[in-house]
Amino acid sequence: MDQNHDKNEKESGFTAIILAAGKGTRMNSTLPKVLHPVAGKPMISRVIKACRGAGINDIRVVVGHGADLVKNVLSSEGVSFFQQAEQLGTADAVRAATPESILENVIILNGDHPLIEASDLDDFIREFRDEKMDIGVVTTRLKKPGDFGRIIRNGGEIYAIVEAKDATAEALKIEEVNTGIYLTRGAILNLLLPEIKNNNLKREFYLTDIISLGLSKRKKVRTLNGRKSVAAGVNTQEQLAAATRIMFNRKLKNVMELGVMVIDPRNTYIEDTVTIGSGTVIYPGCYLKGHTKIGSLCLIEPNCFISNGAVGDGSQIKVGTYIEDATMGSKCHVGPYARLRPDSVLAEDVHIGNFVEVKKSKIGRSTKAAHLAYIGDAEIGENTNIGCGTIFVNYLPNKSKHKTIVGNNCFIGSDVQLVAPITVGDGATIGAGSVITKNVPSQALAVTRASQIVKENYKPKTP
Ligand code: UD1
Ligand code: MG
Repeated sequence: MDQNHDKNEKESGFTAIILAAGKGTRMNSTLPKVLHPVAGKPMISRVIKACRGAGINDIRVVVGHGADLVKNVLSSEGVSFFQQAEQLGTADAVRAATPESILENVIILNGDHPLIEASDLDDFIREFRDEKMDIGVVTTRLKKPGDFGRIIRNGGEIYAIVEAKDATAEALKIEEVNTGIYLTRGAILNLLLPEIKNNNLKREFYLTDIISLGLSKRKKVRTLNGRKSVAAGVNTQEQLAAATRIMFNRKLKNVMELGVMVIDPRNTYIEDTVTIGSGTVIYPGCYLKGHTKIGSLCLIEPNCFISNGAVGDGSQIKVGTYIEDATMGSKCHVGPYARLRPDSVLAEDVHIGNFVEVKKSKIGRSTKAAHLAYIGDAEIGENTNIGCGTIFVNYLPNKSKHKTIVGNNCFIGSDVQLVAPITVGDGATIGAGSVITKNVPSQALAVTRASQIVKENYKPKTP
């Protein structure tokens, strides 16, 4: 999750109320709807991020269903929470956010419209101000307007919003819909909210009624034109997947503009928090997650998963590699089928080959572990060779973990076990197949292998 919620320099003079108390029944999920991730980030966090980007610092989230979990997940986002006791409708939800304390302007949004961006909100705020509106409602045109509230116009100007459930067959044909985003002043909201009644099929307090109420009080009520994506509410798993695809496409377009070569954008997944340098090539099937930073001129081969990984310039990550909270310098080669687990730090020009697992270890420049090894809780110097099948035995029967230190320019033969805690000095050589339990001094040879017996012309005994 994006933890960066420092107050924006820009101050919009707006308070945001984000409605997120609804159940999201159609998601068929135990997770509250607004916490479902869209390209790796809970959808409501995307709405919060857009608000912050537009210079909105007072962000109020109305919670109800799954309130504790929603509050928990959003606890580091610097928003305030208001509990709506019963879901009596969108107007009731706004009331829960104590609008009495809003002295300036207010924007009301739904927590399930994850594709909204700060630039959309900037546009709405600017137009609301320029046109000196009292109430602005964001609308868009949809070929299939479905369940959205319809915008009824009279002489060109908005006259009312009618919910699809309450609409006549004629009104249902209208393609202009309510996106559920409203801009107004706190004073106007507080004047109109108490007047909203629940005389409708659902017996709910509809926030949409502020349009006709505002007009009846001669307020300047206008529509603001929003992009289709602003209206893209997520109510089902299918819509969640569609929103996620759109987010990935936006990011792919962005990285390609910055000079990243994406071989098959339809089959590449890059979260918006990831950065990639120019000249890097990303093969199909890769998923780049979280705060991953990939340098320039890297090659990321097919089917790699990288979460919060840092990959230095000119590195190559080969097929099927899994990297999580690990860092590498430039010109490293990792994979195919390698795994870098959290707190692994590779210096420059390190080679980690197939079926090598590295966990919580520092590996020095130009060191190589080319095949089938486990390196855990280790510090390895520069230019050392870790032979095939080597195991850093870090885990003792009493479940304690211990460290192994290997110096520079060492040669660890194949199939060696280094039983921690242990230190191998610079330039040491360890013979293949050894189980090393005592420290090895610099420049020494250590070998624990039993000597070989050869029996010539040996005939196995027959029973
Ligand atoms: C609402 C609008 C509709 C608009 C659509 C856009 C109303 C009456 N209708 O319809 O005109 O086209 O949004 O998506 O406002 N919520 C609460 N508490 C409640 C009820 C809802 O917090 O008591 C929250 C929901 O969690 C959701 C948002 O408000 O985030 C919208 O509610 P929802 O029930 O989805 O309204 P729609 O029927 O989609
Ligand atoms: Mg909805």
